[in-house]
Amino acid sequence: SRMDGTTERLDPDAAGVARAADLLRAGRLVAFPTETVYGLGADARQGEAVAAIFEAKGRPRFNPLIVHVPDVREAERYGVFPAAARSLVAGGWPAGLTLVVPLREGTGLSPLVSAGNPTVALRLPKADLAQRLLRNFGGPLAGPSANPSGRVSPTTADHVLSGLSGRIAAVLDGGPTEAGLESTILGFPDGVPTVYREGVWQAPASMPRLTKAGEGRADAPGQFSSHYAPKGSVRLDAVTARPGEWHIGFGPVRGDVSLSPAGDLREAAAALFSLLHEADAAGRDRIAVAPIPDRGLGRAINDRLRRAAAPRQAFRL
Ligand code: TXA
Ligand code: MG
Repeated sequence: SRMDGTTERLDPDAAGVARAADLLRAGRLVAFPTETVYGLGADARQGEAVAAIFEAKGRPRFNPLIVHVPDVREAERYGVFPAAARSLVAGGWPAGLTLVVPLREGTGLSPLVSAGNPTVALRLPKADLAQRLLRNFGGPLAGPSANPSGRVSPTTADHVLSGLSGRIAAVLDGGPTEAGLESTILGFPDGVPTVYREGVWQAPASMPRLTKAGEGRADAPGQFSSHYAPKGSVRLDAVTARPGEWHIGFGPVRGDVSLSPAGDLREAAAALFSLLHEADAAGRDRIAVAPIPDRGLGRAINDRLRRAAAPRQAFRL
């Protein structure tokens, strides 16, 4: 492993995974890649380790954390799955999907994880490196995105280090994440599958239309509109750039740089946070973004862009 400040960068081999799991068992924080973005892992059963996540990110304690588990059995240990949730994971837990289900009491999860909510957010990441880490660790990992609160989520180990170097024990470097956007979060109020956050997972066509949580609802995450924000201002639906703007294109709108010249939404999702991190690193203070079609993955992309463009608050989540 190489050191960056006091943060170790671990290779994605057996030794790196073993070192990461040892650090986690010792109550330390380790960032790790999933198929969506890098998460900031801590043993979800160790209260002090979980508290350290909130400190490292500058995250308010009332914002609950996703628990990553190695298998469905472990997930059902911490949450009570309604029928609709069970059928979603019956054929294997889909990539990029987080389920918010009623929390089972007395399972040993730190109460900080749920931040006082009667529910718990559970996710079984599909990425091979995340699975190897979880299997080696053998327990539940609390893991928000591995960025300072309110900033853009990391899709590479370098992004993690640029935000949290010196504040966490290690980052397991698995290269760029596959999808580049966070998971879709589904809750089940009254047993009805409800989208709390648009994300990588897309409902199969065979599924009845999903309810969308109302803006401002207490059970919907990401309440604060400014979130996922780069340092510069962001203007949306920009077909042409104004003077001084760094223009991010899509499809026929070429821009200074493009999310996807071919107009491919999957490619755009994978590039989005990376370009926003690049804007931060280059000190771009005015960013303009081309229109993105509001269908499929485009809905999740537009959700993140709207938050990036929202008026900034003194207090960010
Ligand atoms: O792709 C992802 O979901 C990444 C990877 C690392 O798993 N994680 C992630 O975590 O994006 P975070 O903490 O940045 O965003 C999780 C969201 C937060 O908005 C939080 O409020 C919400 O999930 N959440 C967590 N537990 C919840 C619960 N019990 N009820 C409702 N929302 C919850
Ligand atoms: Mg986040």
